[in-house]
Order: sequence, then C-alpha cells, then structure tokens
Amino acid sequence: MSYNNIKFEKDGVIGILTIDRPKALNALNTETVTELNDCVGKIENDPEVKVVIITGGGSKSFVAGADIVEMSTKNAVEGRFFGKIAQDTFTRIENLPQPVIAAVNGYALGGGCELACACDFRYASENAKFGQPEVGLGITPGFGGTQRLPRVVGRGYGKELIYTASMIDAEEAHRIGLVNKVVPQEQLMDEAKKTAKKIASNAKIAVQLAKAAINRGINCDVITGIAYEDEVFGLCFATEDQKEGMAAFVEKRKANFTDK
Ligand code: CAA
Repeated sequence: MSYNNIKFEKDGVIGILTIDRPKALNALNTETVTELNDCVGKIENDPEVKVVIITGGGSKSFVAGADIVEMSTKNAVEGRFFGKIAQDTFTRIENLPQPVIAAVNGYALGGGCELACACDFRYASENAKFGQPEVGLGITPGFGGTQRLPRVVGRGYGKELIYTASMIDAEEAHRIGLVNKVVPQEQLMDEAKKTAKKIASNAKIAVQLAKAAINRGINCDVITGIAYEDEVFGLCFATEDQKEGMAAFVEKRKANFTDK
C-alpha cells in the first residue's frame, strides 16, 4: 500500500512514523487512519525495528484531531465505524511489541491527544498544546480518550480536560504527567532518538516482555498482573541475552546482545 498522508522511515533500528497531512494540521481522516493501520501492521512484523517514534509533519501540529470536515456529515452508523477503525488502530499501536515514543511537535488535540496516549510515553516541544475539544463539538472523545487519558494523568485531570474541552500547554502537560519531557522544538527528534537508542541498546526480548507485562497488568488486578510478570520473568531465562547480560556483569564488560 502506498501512503498519501503518512511517512515511514528507518534510522537504524528506530522506526519513524510521521502523520504528514500538514495542510489540515495532520488531522486524521479515514484515509490517514487506514494508512496508519497498514503501516503499524508492517512495523509489528519487522524484527529490525526496535523502537518507534510517532510525530507530526510540519512544525505546527502533531495531530489536530479527527478530521472534523469529514465527520461533519456522518450519521450514527458511519460515526461508529470511523471511531472503531481508529480505536482498533490505536490499540494496535499501544500493543506493538516495540516501545513507541510520541514526539509531540505542536497541537495534540482530540484524536491527536488520544494517539499520543496510545504511545508508551510522550516528549513534547515547547509549542505543544494538548486537549480533548470533543464536547465543544457535540461529541465525546472517540479514539480511546475517555479510557487512556484518565489512566495516564489520573481521573481528576482527565475528567477536567475532557469536560472543559480546554487546551493546556506543554509545561502544564508536563506538570500533570501527560508528557515526560519538554524541549525546544529543534531538539525534539534528537531527544526522542537519544532515548530510543538507549532503549534499543538493552536486551530486545526483555524490553518487549516488560512492555507486555506493564500493558497487561495496568488493565487488570495486581495479582493477575504479578502472575503475568512471573511468566515473562521466567521466560527471560530461556534467552541468550539473559546469559550474555549476566555474564557481562560478572566479567565486568559491556554486554553484546544478539536479540535471541
Ligand atoms: N479537522 C479538519 N481540518 C482541520 C482540523 C481538524 N481537526 N484542524 C485543523 N484543520 C484545518 C483547518 O480547517 C484549516 O484548513 P483550511 O486552511 O482549509 O481552512 C487548516 O487545518 C489550518 O487550521 P486553522 O486555520 O484552524 O489553524 P489555526 O492556527 O488558526 O488553529 C487549531 C489551529 C487551534 C488547531 C484549530 O485548527 C482547531 O481548533 N482545530 C480543530 C481541533 C479539534 O477540535 N480537534 C478535535 C477534533 S474531534 C476528535 O478528534 C474526535 C475524536 O475523539 C477522535
């Protein structure tokens, strides 16, 4: 499938996925969501990609939400279908085996904030703005916002953001834990790549199992989560990287991981 509204490139073991529809501030229409879903499917099955960074094309916007022009004429069935394909795509992003960093380089509104929340964590440029403006448009958040945002920032801030439809800046987003780091825009991709490389230097199977255990546990009770952790912890001892990582420690040298 060729893409009109997104770009995917590799920088070594880092996959960089750009929502690239700057004329509409990277708003997500059906075509863009469909392309995103296709691309995520390819990343899922690409063993070369160890970490993914998602960002927006241009310097103004990460993603300014779902495409309001396209949504404005939808009926209930069409609205639900649109929500479903985007929800499935975002859940697929959340569950990618590889860690995913959102590099939020401007507006992250509605579906944009929801996309950022489907990533493992978020870095923002100083000009970034976050919000869930949906109730001001007569709709609820529909790409996972009612579920993921309160899980990221806690239900108090999540509810306040959703009920008021207000926009917050990057510093406020940092204060409430929506983003991990705020940097000048020109440094954003370098910062994200620096962290991506650090993640990629660790044992790949262990990183992916840790992600699976966190994602599994966050949505269930702690006893079930801990039981899953026990499974993945045990599994690590069947990997060559566990032998190598611990031998390297004992021999006081740097580990040479082979992703096996
Ligand atoms: N959908 C469709 N087009 C959009 C868009 C969106 N979400 N956001 C911006 N655009 C388009 C504008 O229509 C405009 O197009 P034209 O040049 O053809 O008129 C272009 O992008 C540039 O936008 P502005 O001229 O509005 O730029 P600005 O700097 O004055 O304002 C903004 C920027 C504050 C982000 C403003 O564009 C805005 O409020 N956008 C809508 C944000 C929003 O409400 N997002 C939530 C959508 S609902 C949703 O996402 C539901 C869900 O849960 C999934």
